[in-house]
Amino acid sequence: MPDYVDMIKKAFSGREAPPLCYLHSFGCQQNVSDGEKILGVLCDMGYGVTEDMENADLIIYNTCAVREGAELKVYSLVGNLKKLKENNPELIIGLCGCMAQQEKTVEKIRKSYRHVDLIFGTYALKELPRLLYTVLTEKKPVSDITEYDGVIPEDVTSVRKDSIKASVPIMYGCDNFCSYCIVPYVRGRERSREPGAVLNEVRQLAEAGYKEIMLLGQNVNSYGKKLSEPVTFAELLREIDKIEGDFRIRFMSSHPKDATKELIDAVIDCDKVCKHLHLPLQSGSDRILEAMNRRYTAEKYMEIVDYARSRIPDFSFSTDIIVGFPNETEEDFQDTLDILKKVEYDNIFSFIYSIRSGTKAALIEDKISDEEKSGRMRRLLELQREITDRRFKRFIGRTLDVLFDGESNKEGFCSGKSDEFIIVEAKADPSVIGQRKQVRITNAFNWALQGELL
Ligand code: 5AD
Ligand code: SF4
Repeated sequence: MPDYVDMIKKAFSGREAPPLCYLHSFGCQQNVSDGEKILGVLCDMGYGVTEDMENADLIIYNTCAVREGAELKVYSLVGNLKKLKENNPELIIGLCGCMAQQEKTVEKIRKSYRHVDLIFGTYALKELPRLLYTVLTEKKPVSDITEYDGVIPEDVTSVRKDSIKASVPIMYGCDNFCSYCIVPYVRGRERSREPGAVLNEVRQLAEAGYKEIMLLGQNVNSYGKKLSEPVTFAELLREIDKIEGDFRIRFMSSHPKDATKELIDAVIDCDKVCKHLHLPLQSGSDRILEAMNRRYTAEKYMEIVDYARSRIPDFSFSTDIIVGFPNETEEDFQDTLDILKKVEYDNIFSFIYSIRSGTKAALIEDKISDEEKSGRMRRLLELQREITDRRFKRFIGRTLDVLFDGESNKEGFCSGKSDEFIIVEAKADPSVIGQRKQVRITNAFNWALQGELL
């Protein structure tokens, strides 16, 4: 295959300044991490990175398909780019990621958004130089949503915007086929990175001074099962914990069907691992969980929570909830509220069910009205607000380990996250940004804690 990276580099060599690319990633951390790899490939080809779209020679939206809202937003933003392209016909506009991986998106873009030059899916990172070369030289639109087999981009260096926190994917794809979810269709089958590759990357990040490493996967608990030498996620965590350096470790997401006591034990034993688990519940009703193909019951879910809390009474949990799955009854919804009360999450991420064509749930005729669904969402958030209020007050007087990552909106204050993944702000000089500090909590708001630096 021709060396397209080299060919593009040569094509740019006559320019006074390097061409600039602007990339924005929507959606989950996995997608943000993919975006960092795409920037890596672009920088290899000679691009510089800009945060200013108006100055860019190449604009890429790295899209999310998990809910309709995310897709609509991208269509609207892509529509807005038409003006930029009219003013600068040399501008290249690209669309990639989960939404781009779908045939229907390619059709719609080709038909109604003709100013888009380049569409590539979640498998095509390695093909990007070839695709871009074609756009640059042949001046014609190109798309590639081929499902290239099992590729893991090991030889690509990520370009990270954040110098404090870094994400490290440990696996790609998903085999679970929850009935509402588009991810297995746009990200393909589950494939794990070799433990050695993960450990090397974490080691490099620790040496570079990163203070927090987030291990990523659609279902980290099934990490390593299909490797030629199988490794469990708990084993991987223990190995990562041994790496020297002043950093903490988080991971997401854990599927409750595969969450084990072994995992909780590893989290508790490993000093660097935050005592917090993001454990997406989705629904507290066994009937709905079955219709969602989640393969656990509310009881099984509570066993994990109870085990963690039996070892550390204050173990922190957060979760994802879908409200208004097709034909969710008031009784089903009450089951979800019941679990919220039992677990007392520190934080929840809740979503109204969004129909995704191609998934199993999209075929169910839904009799629940939109008003009913938004009413339930309101009630869910109200309940969680009360819980968060109570939960957060328990921190007053305690000291938390906070990694400061920016200035807060309040003059003279900086903010960061505690081990529990809770926002904490404190009066501090911006020089604390990038550092872990002990903070004594003095006040609890609904969305954050406030304290004093020790
Ligand atoms: N509708 C609403 N929420 C969804 N999620 C995934 N698919 C859908 C959908 N079709 C939510 C789940 C998942 C989170 C990342 O997004 O709660 O855990
Ligand atoms: Fe992430 Fe899923 Fe959205 Fe893709 S569809 S960006 S995997 S949340």
